[in-house]
Amino acid sequence: MPATDYPWTAMPNSCFEPAADSIANPTPDNLADPFRRRLLAAAVLTAGGGALAAVGLPLPALAAGRLPDFATLSASTADEVRLASGFAAQLLYAWGDPVSDGPRARADAADSAAEQLQQAGMHHDGMHFFPFVERGNASSTHGLICINHEYTDDGLLHVGGMADWSAEKVAKSKAATGVSVIEVRRAKDGWQVVRPSRWARRITADTPCRISGPARAHPAMLTATDRWGEFALGTLNNCAMGVTPWGTYLTCEENFNGYFKAPTTPSADQMRYGISGKTAGYRWHEFDERFDLARHPNEANRFGWVVEIDPWNPQAAPVKRTALGRFKHEGATVTLARDGRVVVYMGDDERFEYIYKFVSRDRYIAGQSDTATLLDHGTLYVARFGDDGKGRWLPLRHGEKYPNGALTPEYGFSNQGDVAIRCRQAADLAGATKMDRPEWIAVHPQSREVYVTLTNNSQRGTPAGAGLNAANPRPDNVFGHIVRWRESRQDAAANTFDWDIFALTGDPQHASAGQRGTIKGDAYGSPDGLWFDRAGRLWIQTDVSTSVLNQGDYARLGNNQMLVADVRSGETRRFLTGPKGCELTGMTTTPDGKTLFVNIQHPGEGTSERSDPARPTAISAWPASQFPEAVGGRPRSATLAITRPDGQPITT
Ligand code: FEO
Ligand code: CA
Ligand code: CA
Repeated sequence: MPATDYPWTAMPNSCFEPAADSIANPTPDNLADPFRRRLLAAAVLTAGGGALAAVGLPLPALAAGRLPDFATLSASTADEVRLASGFAAQLLYAWGDPVSDGPRARADAADSAAEQLQQAGMHHDGMHFFPFVERGNASSTHGLICINHEYTDDGLLHVGGMADWSAEKVAKSKAATGVSVIEVRRAKDGWQVVRPSRWARRITADTPCRISGPARAHPAMLTATDRWGEFALGTLNNCAMGVTPWGTYLTCEENFNGYFKAPTTPSADQMRYGISGKTAGYRWHEFDERFDLARHPNEANRFGWVVEIDPWNPQAAPVKRTALGRFKHEGATVTLARDGRVVVYMGDDERFEYIYKFVSRDRYIAGQSDTATLLDHGTLYVARFGDDGKGRWLPLRHGEKYPNGALTPEYGFSNQGDVAIRCRQAADLAGATKMDRPEWIAVHPQSREVYVTLTNNSQRGTPAGAGLNAANPRPDNVFGHIVRWRESRQDAAANTFDWDIFALTGDPQHASAGQRGTIKGDAYGSPDGLWFDRAGRLWIQTDVSTSVLNQGDYARLGNNQMLVADVRSGETRRFLTGPKGCELTGMTTTPDGKTLFVNIQHPGEGTSERSDPARPTAISAWPASQFPEAVGGRPRSATLAITRPDGQPITT
């Protein structure tokens, strides 16, 4: 097919800017050393902070959560990263940097697919720092970082972009997708990627992944290359993440639908997941037939899952945990119920989609539980936000009956595998609340309140979209909002909760009163990344679409940014502003809070998400424009290591 059929077209299924008419919901309203694993588990468990004390870290005072002592930063349209005064950023890991001892990127993107396999992928997203345990303590100077590479901009990825499209270009695009695991160490002159590293690896859209849980071996999961439904090739569109108490990383498959060529007449089930004639233009199906659903109709059922990765065992295959449901997973935020059961909060990021939680059947007991199967058995729930401020978790359990229908064979659900694979349809029957694009979810470390970003929904209240509800109260919600809830009895496994709105985001100077929002402090819109530090401060990252950035409603809000909020007072202060065309997504700290790692995704992105290969730096030349050591030639997503030159912690 000639390249002109794909003139750097907008990608309608990208997480940040679905096409104006894109609404998919039509319904009416294992580590080898157990001792080491225990230590690592203690180092990552954050709920309540208790486990951190167990490895010698001081707990923040319960009264903490006040904003750090820094002067606010102005909104910026400059092509550089700007930080509040008193902080410094170092470039750590950019697209094309070697994962271990592989080759460095070429400025003209002439690297082969085989070379890209050994390098950082594109479009860094969610990430987490896993500390080494040294002398019994979780290290703050040595760790592994898992980093998602959400999607590719094939205009930048190849010499000539998508012209002369080939098997080699498809292989390179798949190699630039997935996850990086890198080893990092802080030396006297700053943070470095350790090269070579025995832990470093790339997981890509071709890496064999094990399938576990109720959809394993389900007839709808069988393909020509996997007749048992036990292994899927690859993970893709890896958006946000989660981390388990047992020291593993959860990477989340978001807009998987856009990679597949739909059959001429997509089924209703495919349409419900956005599989239609409108692909995102990746064109993988032209040289890898498993992305052609007319030939391999079940392949799309093998994506849209939460995938568990053990960063400490480079030989271990990632595991697709199907008990957590199949949808466009943003993230998977893990906490523990009062009795120790594992609870995972998850958003399905599309307009009018839902918020879910998984509660494990078994309890997590450090060092004793069989963590290899904890996420395979349990109950998946979907949220209903009542207009009275009360909420209910509706179980998506096979056999469950609801006023609209039942999760029974009569409605197409013969077993729990059907419920997991057709999770959206099950949630439709249950009567879940249609939300304004649920993105990241964060649990307050002391109060255990749960916060979720609802990034925006320009279709809310339109004839094509759903009407208003109390949890999604604004028509034409171009700025988004943040909702929070309190589980009954402060128990994450509860069936009911109370909720309210933390902030309607917006521009206080907007001509329309409805778009001014309720933010106290610095203004922002399209909240996306969300994370609590141990002191209970809420860190917020924005993803304003490049189609509206710095224009129209967003004319005064500047480039995408990162802020921090005191959730008691509501005061919000700008901390970082990104370069042109980027979004901010992904943040994690060292246990001592002295280093904050932040990802800059897709600097230089234009109103479509695919760059013109003839002018790769037309919008941004970051990071080479700010960090001379960076490989130039193209804008590059990158991980920053942010510290305070005075040596004080940032996040505690
Ligand atoms: Fe990939 Fe919804 O952000
Ligand atoms: Ca995005
Ligand atoms: Ca996101």
